[in-house]
Amino acid sequence: MSKYVINGGRKLNGQIDINGAKNSVLPLLAAALLTDEPVRIGNCPILTDVDNMIRIITSLGASVNRDGSYIEIKSAGLCAYEIPKRQAKELRSSVFLMGSILGRMKKAKVAYPGGCDIGLRPIDIHLKALSELNVKIVEKYGYINCDANMMKASNVFLDYPSVGATENIMLLSAISEGITIISNVAREPEIVELQNFLNSMGAKIEGAGSSCIKIEGVRKLKGTDYYAMPDRIVTGTIMMAVALCGGDVVLNYTNHTHIDAVISKLRKSGCNIIVESDKICIQSFTRLNSLGYVETGPYPGYPTDLQAPLAALASTADGTTILVENIFENRFKHLPELCKMGANIRVKDRIAFISGVKQLTGAEVIAMDLRGGASLVLAGLSASQLTVVHDIQHIERGYENLDKIFVALGADIIKIC
Ligand code: UD1
Repeated sequence: MSKYVINGGRKLNGQIDINGAKNSVLPLLAAALLTDEPVRIGNCPILTDVDNMIRIITSLGASVNRDGSYIEIKSAGLCAYEIPKRQAKELRSSVFLMGSILGRMKKAKVAYPGGCDIGLRPIDIHLKALSELNVKIVEKYGYINCDANMMKASNVFLDYPSVGATENIMLLSAISEGITIISNVAREPEIVELQNFLNSMGAKIEGAGSSCIKIEGVRKLKGTDYYAMPDRIVTGTIMMAVALCGGDVVLNYTNHTHIDAVISKLRKSGCNIIVESDKICIQSFTRLNSLGYVETGPYPGYPTDLQAPLAALASTADGTTILVENIFENRFKHLPELCKMGANIRVKDRIAFISGVKQLTGAEVIAMDLRGGASLVLAGLSASQLTVVHDIQHIERGYENLDKIFVALGADIIKIC
């Protein structure tokens, strides 16, 4: 297993370009299956999650070519409608292939999905919404068998604004007859991006970004050439690294409006942040103040994917930060690892009470999941002495060359395979 070895304590300075968003590119790849014409997506990050998604759609009969950050998908030859257990286990996002396979093939057989071990992650909201559209669902032997031959467009209410369920229903309804209205949908920027992408393929969708989306199904979608949005979670993670280590960094090709909740917390803690149209400048020169009370919530609330990096930040901020995880029930696995580095953290249920210490000390720690792993890298960058982060395959699911990004900003971090 690969690991990062970090000699911490250096300030971060310079400029960095932000790559495309994993959480956007994955549903766009699923959407590409809705047409038999070629689809080209630019700004795709090089990540294991993206590789796994490509492997799955190839196994369904699509042909995929990657040229740098561009991925071209030709799915005229789509012939299969089953995602086997082995593949689904590797990627939670295989779940929204259900919507696109159903849209295209009218049938889907999908094994229960995998992904980070950050909680139960059921898919009941997806299935309830599909049955409200009269999709027949039979769950058997770990597989969900869906049949959309009798599907009827309708009004669908999501009991919770699930990102994946919103995407799934958008994908299916885009290419199904009739008007579907989904209420209480997720409002994340990735949903707006999926709407824009599908509309560029000829879909008729409106409302993304609000809590209600209207989809007028069309018979056929066409190919498109699309440039994916920047990764707001990578943006936030790097900003927190600068906040934690100190320094002066410009993040290019990003969108500050996607992380308002994060910018406001970082400003409150004492960082100087200047935003321009596609640029964020962050400066951190003194010990940060505690972040007070932070709770994760659906967009535009504070993102759960940036809860773990914030915990690293709070570990050395002056005072106590109260961090509440409202989205996933098992997303505090990085906290005991931060404690190995000297952090002072007490956990009660889904609430972490973090009393900032002056400095963390390097230690051998283990990345248990994607964002938790990133928080350990941040902690290591700011700690005195050497930190070794093991099991970085989790981190590489969602961060492209995280070590190289920090080296470019002046950190001392190497990857050992
Ligand atoms: C997506 C993101 C993930 C992010 C999450 C919340 C992708 C590939 N992943 O995940 O990085 O952390 O949004 O912003 O875009 N739930 C149910 N039943 C369901 C569906 C969800 O109980 O049918 C629960 C989940 O277990 C979780 C919460 O709802 O506790 C949020 O899940 P959801 O919004 O669906 O997240 P994902 O789409 O899995």
